[in-house]
Amino acid sequence: MLQNSVRHQLFIDNKQTPAASGESIQVVDPSDGQVFAQIARGGAADIDRAVGAARRASVGAWGVMTAVERGRVLRRWADLVAAAGDELAHLESRDTGKPMRQARADATAFARYFEYYAGAADKLHGQTIPYQNGYTVMTIREPHGVTGHIIPWNYPMQIFGRSVGAALAAGNACVVKPAEDACLSLLRAAELGAQAGLPPGALNVVTGLGPEAGQALAEHPGIDHISFTGSPDTGRRVAQAAAGHHCPVTLELGGKSPQIVFADADLEATLPVLVNAIIQNCGQTCSAGSRVLIERAAWDQVLAQLAERFAALRAGPASQDLDLGPLISERQRQRVRDFLAEARDSGLELAGQGTIVADAPPLGFYEPPALLASVPSASRLFQEEIFGPVLVATAFDDEAQALALANDSPYGLVAGVWTRDGARQMRMARGIRTGQVFVNNYGAGGGVELPFGGVKHSGYGREKGFEALYGFTTLKTIALRHD
Ligand code: NAI
Ligand code: MG
Repeated sequence: MLQNSVRHQLFIDNKQTPAASGESIQVVDPSDGQVFAQIARGGAADIDRAVGAARRASVGAWGVMTAVERGRVLRRWADLVAAAGDELAHLESRDTGKPMRQARADATAFARYFEYYAGAADKLHGQTIPYQNGYTVMTIREPHGVTGHIIPWNYPMQIFGRSVGAALAAGNACVVKPAEDACLSLLRAAELGAQAGLPPGALNVVTGLGPEAGQALAEHPGIDHISFTGSPDTGRRVAQAAAGHHCPVTLELGGKSPQIVFADADLEATLPVLVNAIIQNCGQTCSAGSRVLIERAAWDQVLAQLAERFAALRAGPASQDLDLGPLISERQRQRVRDFLAEARDSGLELAGQGTIVADAPPLGFYEPPALLASVPSASRLFQEEIFGPVLVATAFDDEAQALALANDSPYGLVAGVWTRDGARQMRMARGIRTGQVFVNNYGAGGGVELPFGGVKHSGYGREKGFEALYGFTTLKTIALRHD
């Protein structure tokens, strides 16, 4: 009961501040289904206040700071985040249900994003362009001004790190709307940002519901760029709202990423990666490897070994640090169960399944990981993002069919190719329509330095790496006549 009274506020102008509504949203621990805190239910008035604060910072203290100084602030923030890594990991693990090991890895990546973008802040420059005699033409990378960031619940620290880290490095002031299902690590990180030297208004965090605070952020005419990660439907809504004031958007909308296993692959190296890429964060990963395509010559062997590995997987409370934690919410678990019911109804083979530990709290949102075999490409289970620990396996006969199956998806985020044949590695990597291709490895969740984003319904624009900085800037061309 005591813990229920922990009430978190909004973070605007480097201060904790209540939401205008005075209302709050319950924070649930997915490991036991119990409420343990409250967050403020921000809305349009709070977003407006945060955008005003960000605008003042972008033309004030933050806007006039030199790039090297911005980088130093980010660098100090990276150090504070690293020092608070354990605390942040505990907050996010309790909030999302992810096992502590994963939360710690996320906290490490979080600090690393700030470190990376700290170093990049003063290396973001334009060009000079040869033009007619008597002219000098140059391009300058300028910040958009005030950027909006709508963050999902699956990897709050990592997605905040990649998006806000790059936007601040480029000189923008930020308004962040975390997901209502997981905010706590970000509210704490914002305090650390202020401690690191971010001037008031450079970073504001407004918690609240998607259709209220999120929608208000996307519609706000004072926002100059929006970065969104989440579902395709909400992404479309955000882009439509932003179009009302011609605001550019970057959308990262998840995937149904294929792992393509040829018979000549090094199976010992491949198998653990295949399993991890679907069970990490209980399958709630945009880049989850959720379809495994297996060359028929190796089908029996790969499927048997996958089934054996699935049977050994255990799900339980985040604090027990098992293979999987719970799903984020009852709603997300129901979504996964609906897909599994459909698999049963259509007679698909459940080739392997893990277990939930006996002492898992009965009200936690657990679902054992499942391996479904011989799933036809027309099936909804092959086509749609489940966002849970469900791996669908499908056989192929040759390289052409492997490529066709890989591309038979509305999504195009990531792909993994497993083969020893070098020419085939390159043909596949070139033929696959995704934003990233991994050959004989799979970088789910990793790769601070690697540009990341999708094609087709996985979205557009790139986050992470140096490339992200271009998305958070606008290019000005200056033509100077001096003849
Ligand atoms: P969602 O896309 O609705 O939520 C993502 C973020 O958008 C949250 O911060 C939410 O508050 C916000 N939001 C919701 N409605 C909004 C609106 N009208 N305007 C502005 N912002 C809004 O995703 P949800 O409902 O939490 O999960 C549903 C499915 O979405 C999942 O099962 C999964 O398939 C997919 N998803 C994909 C993610 C990814 O990493 N690509 C992350 C989260 C969800
Ligand atoms: Mg939603």
